[in-house]
Amino acid sequence: MVQDIEMLEEFYSKFPKRVDSARKSLGRPMTLAEKILYAHLYDEHSVRLYKRGEDYVNFRPDRVAMQDATAQMALLQFMNAGKDRSVVPATVHCDHLIQANIGAKADIQTATDGNREVYDFLKTVSGKYGIGFWKPGAGIIHQVVLENYAFPGGMMVGTDSHTPNAGGLGMVAIGVGGADAVDVMTGMEWELKMPKLIGVKLTGRLNGWASPKDVILKLAGILTVKGGTNAIIEYFGSGASSLSATGKATICNMGAEVGATTSLFPFDNNMAAYLRATGREGIAVKAEAISSYLEADEDVRANPDMYYDRVIVINLSELEPYINGPFTPDAATPISEFAAKVIENGYPRKMEVGLIGSCTNSSYQDLSRAASIARQAYEDKIPVAAPLIINPGSEQIRYTAERDGIIGDFERIGAVIMANACGPCIGQWKRHTDDNTRKNSIVTSFNRNFAKRADGNPNTHAFVASPELTLALTIAGDLCFNPLKDTLKTEDGCEVKLKEPQGMDFPARGFAVEDNGFIAPFASSDEVKINAESCRLQVLEPFAPWNGADLLDMPLLIKVEGKCTTDHISMAGPWLRFRGHLENISDNMLMGAVNAFNGKTNYVLNQLDGMYDAVSAVAKQYKKEGISSIVVAEENYGEGSSREHAAMEPRFLNVKVILAKSFARIHETNLKKQGMLALTFADKDDYNKIREDDKISITGLDAFAPGKPLIAVLRHSDGSEESFPVHHTYNELQIKWFKAGSALNAAHE
Ligand code: F3S
Repeated sequence: MVQDIEMLEEFYSKFPKRVDSARKSLGRPMTLAEKILYAHLYDEHSVRLYKRGEDYVNFRPDRVAMQDATAQMALLQFMNAGKDRSVVPATVHCDHLIQANIGAKADIQTATDGNREVYDFLKTVSGKYGIGFWKPGAGIIHQVVLENYAFPGGMMVGTDSHTPNAGGLGMVAIGVGGADAVDVMTGMEWELKMPKLIGVKLTGRLNGWASPKDVILKLAGILTVKGGTNAIIEYFGSGASSLSATGKATICNMGAEVGATTSLFPFDNNMAAYLRATGREGIAVKAEAISSYLEADEDVRANPDMYYDRVIVINLSELEPYINGPFTPDAATPISEFAAKVIENGYPRKMEVGLIGSCTNSSYQDLSRAASIARQAYEDKIPVAAPLIINPGSEQIRYTAERDGIIGDFERIGAVIMANACGPCIGQWKRHTDDNTRKNSIVTSFNRNFAKRADGNPNTHAFVASPELTLALTIAGDLCFNPLKDTLKTEDGCEVKLKEPQGMDFPARGFAVEDNGFIAPFASSDEVKINAESCRLQVLEPFAPWNGADLLDMPLLIKVEGKCTTDHISMAGPWLRFRGHLENISDNMLMGAVNAFNGKTNYVLNQLDGMYDAVSAVAKQYKKEGISSIVVAEENYGEGSSREHAAMEPRFLNVKVILAKSFARIHETNLKKQGMLALTFADKDDYNKIREDDKISITGLDAFAPGKPLIAVLRHSDGSEESFPVHHTYNELQIKWFKAGSALNAAHE
């Protein structure tokens, strides 16, 4: 048992009282999300009706989880916070830095050797500050959290955008930047704008090829990548309780793809069963005892339109399997229409690699359903057309799946079993391909499919689907294959249809594991050493405070056209090695963003010499000359991951302002925390006024105040000027962060 049960006993004894008191103050029935949020107010006496989408509220989350790529920066900041220990339970998970190449054993060894300095740093810091450490190969953060730490009614933050995965066990789990994690670990208030609430009523029951993944793939099509911004998606209805806990987690996980703050399901028997199957009988009993507090009140469920800001109904009985993509997870297409879409859009029809895994879809249930298809392919002698790669979610799942023959089912059809880690999902994939310049298609069971994400190749068309559909398409090797109606040819020339997938929520014989890879916090007195010569780790120097003046005549660094995710701002893959070294990783700044003036990536005008160069090179040149610069962008800037490097890199390279049409939530907060100005166009058409060689000023900072617009002044090279208002969402505290140079600086003032 890796969880602190005493803490949970206290939690469950207080939870009903807190909810009752909040319900009394609000004077109306409550949704589940509201119950959990109000029960976690930083000051329990500060209960009042907070306006959704407007009021900033201080919370006290129960725990923190960090993955290795973001933990480095989070812990470097925590070391500057002056604390001896994390005041809440926290864990570090080594899952992002393992490259998928030839197979689990060899790849973990390569990662352990290659990342020794980083792993040693994370382990030593974890030990010193009372943080649990999950070593490389132990599993993917969200799967490990679900198996060990998530609990109904709880609240956690995690330095990864798919932290909402824990909503599968009824937890409000929110992805944040490292600076937010530091707030929680130091016991400070953790601030969040009171989210809006989207209620999703699930009716009916999944059948056949439809899986939990298809619920969120369909919903992504309805909401789009922005539709959940600043909202919690709360599921309810009889269909919700028919889903397994890990299926619910899949749905919550991918709520990140619609920008949702988090997603969650009410407590039910399937959650209790999962808690018991993963050795947490005590939590199941406690949750069962207060189960009415772990779901929306009856009146909310009966009249959802009165209590949620938006209600969507999905009938699981009619749900088709979906395939979303390429390049964006909200391009949703039901399988019945997908073949026509492939032909119409000229997507490469040959399916080149199938990948099953990621935090979204690597549970025992996922693997067992996919394995049933693999078994049929082997037994019926159906040739498998494309290579198959599997990343199990945790060592517990891998070990159990091996014992139960599931891993064998995959291996018999030629699958390579990679480490229990993110691997190709975060660009850590040494793809073996004959030609990188050829347009090609892959199908994954992952959550994200932005250009270049899996293999760094812009020619790769990545589609996301359920594990079972991924496997069916891998066998067929054809994107146009629809297993619901098409047949495949066996080696003997017979036409066969794949049978509907069959799987188990969890193993009949129970989970088993020899070494789960957990190292409990140990009161280490080891000094945390960072070698000044290291290219992987660098001590963080505080950012300079605001100098009290308006930001004048900043050259435009880049005007970004179209989608600009955190992958575009701070690419993963090979750059993951520099996540603990701000100076070195800043070399990748905005290298994936498209310059609106020439359609090229990483090719921008240097206003000092009139030449074109990489974005980071130009920013460095400006910084060297003591010049600040500004970035202009379109909608949902910073969509995607929680990596705060995407905010820290521009900050480090003297970019002072990001002026966008809109921001993704986590990234906007990260920018604020690092002392940047995140501004939006009051009139989005003003984006068109920005010219390539503009000098841009932001004025009105002496009167910087909540709700009060600032002014952007464009000085064009022909001598003309124009100005327009720009909006912001800074509150008093966040303005303090800006003035102090960062939230961390402000905390020390
Ligand atoms: Fe890892 Fe991909 Fe999930 S990077 S945490 S498996 S989204």
